[in-house]
Amino acid sequence: MKNEVLELGLFDFKDPVGKDFSTRCEPFMDWVDAASREGYFQFLRHHVDTPREMTEVVGWGGQAYSGINLASQDYLGLARHPEVVRASADATLEKGTHSSGSETLGGGFGEAKRLERIVADFTDHPHVVLFPTGWSAGYGAIRALVRPHDVVLMDALAHNCLQHGAQASTPNVATFSHNDMDSLESRLRRARNERPDAAILVVTESLFSMDSDHPDFERMIRLCDDHGAALMVDVAHDLGVLGPGGRGVLHETGLLDRVPFLVGSFSKTFASIGGFFAARHRGPTLYARGFSGSYTFSNYLVPSQVAAVTAAFEIVASDEGRQLRRRALENAAVLRDALAEQGVPALGRVSSLVLPVIGPEPIARVAYRHCLEHGLILNNIEFPACRRGEARFRMQVTPLHTTDQMRSAARIVRKSLDHARASLGSGSGPAAAGVSAIDTHIPA
Ligand SMILES: Cc1ncc(COP(=O)(O)O)c(C=O)c1O
Repeated sequence: MKNEVLELGLFDFKDPVGKDFSTRCEPFMDWVDAASREGYFQFLRHHVDTPREMTEVVGWGGQAYSGINLASQDYLGLARHPEVVRASADATLEKGTHSSGSETLGGGFGEAKRLERIVADFTDHPHVVLFPTGWSAGYGAIRALVRPHDVVLMDALAHNCLQHGAQASTPNVATFSHNDMDSLESRLRRARNERPDAAILVVTESLFSMDSDHPDFERMIRLCDDHGAALMVDVAHDLGVLGPGGRGVLHETGLLDRVPFLVGSFSKTFASIGGFFAARHRGPTLYARGFSGSYTFSNYLVPSQVAAVTAAFEIVASDEGRQLRRRALENAAVLRDALAEQGVPALGRVSSLVLPVIGPEPIARVAYRHCLEHGLILNNIEFPACRRGEARFRMQVTPLHTTDQMRSAARIVRKSLDHARASLGSGSGPAAAGVSAIDTHIPA
């Protein structure tokens, strides 16, 4: 009999049918409850206290776990940095907890204008709009630029906010295979032939958080130039950590100023929440101010948020920031080496994200529960964030972790995999379907 708790996933319940909004949710409720009871539901854990390198969490089913925390996104460990915390607390004491409206209707304030300049200088994109979250920035930037007669060509694994922004803006959305420039070239050629007068936006990321990789930007930019397309890159996961001065993969490749549009998030490295849209020219950012609902009609960032992000940028740009980056990437390298020694190599390049592929979803869920029960808190990533049958553990490393924690984590992952295979048999679960996440949502 099918073990639904292990073999069904969140996305099997995505499209409920029936005319009653409540009763049609019941199969999902039953699945969530059963999976939670058995400790296989990997979402909605909460921390008992402030997330630290060792942490205590409670699963959605009520189970308590404690151990090495590789599940928090705080890439340089700045969320508890005394200067960041003090700046944020002072801002609340001086200015209160709120912004007084959307920026469009006067909710802006001086410190946020200063942060815009900091982001502009750091990214070499002089025109910047701040958004309350990174998700709203990615969504809103595409909504601001793209109209129904335009075309969006998107990497098959691009983030949910980019997918939704594209889908809400035009019916002409197609994906190209992940980081595959031949696939992009054929999409571009077709789009340009079919729609000679359309604006074409190509969308990708400078570090994919489920694979720790990125496209060949030199070829990508050349292809965009050849076909009259513009490139938008989401820099959420590398800005502040990778490249000289932490200025990201695009800066590392010397191509930052060749990319017209960036979007980013403050929730990974910059110790708060919030996001930005940055452009080389002013017009597109004015469109974002006027026509992207998630900025135009949403209350602006609050003072504590802006103060924390500003303090984090100051540290990132300092010698301390350089040392934190070095230490974070050393930890990531130690973890990757230790995992490889255990026969579970991690994907992609050294970054804050360490991602060993575990395999079919049932194996990954049993291994995930075993990790939590044996002192390692991490995330199990499944379709649609990666291909079916290629579930992976996502481990997020900071400079505050120790080398011993990295080595212990690798040992626990190995043991969890052995345990899962022994429990289920190594062939368990659906084979890789060869379908990328977004292919199921956006027609090619
Ligand atoms: C690539 C990418 N873009 C945008 C976001 C959204 O950022 P935020 O969490 O700040 O809303 C995320 C975070 O999950 C992300 O991974």
